[in-house]
Amino acid sequence: PTVVFIDPHGSEHAVEAPDGRSLMQVAIDHAVPGILGDCGGVCSCATCHGYVDPAFLDQLPPRSETEVFMLEGVPDLRGNSRLCCQIRMQPALAGMRIQLPDEQV
Ligand code: FES
Repeated sequence: PTVVFIDPHGSEHAVEAPDGRSLMQVAIDHAVPGILGDCGGVCSCATCHGYVDPAFLDQLPPRSETEVFMLEGVPDLRGNSRLCCQIRMQPALAGMRIQLPDEQV
């Protein structure tokens, strides 16, 4: 399955996302600009912030307490803000689009 990251400049990156891999790792694997993943995916840096396609929100696991806490520090928090390291690819997410913010923390 693929997902599409939209970088801060508006360029789309359709990338292969193996089931079970975190979307942060998928973006890093493909050198998508606009996402950092500084903490390696343990929900302690918030540099993997993205805005997920609202149509997929109810397919995603809810934000954990830690994710909610970390998201409080991002520059432009929205209802569809998620930390990409906390979302594992699964078949239901095929085709999901993730807009990356203008700046990471
Ligand atoms: Fe650090 Fe996601 S990679 S919070």
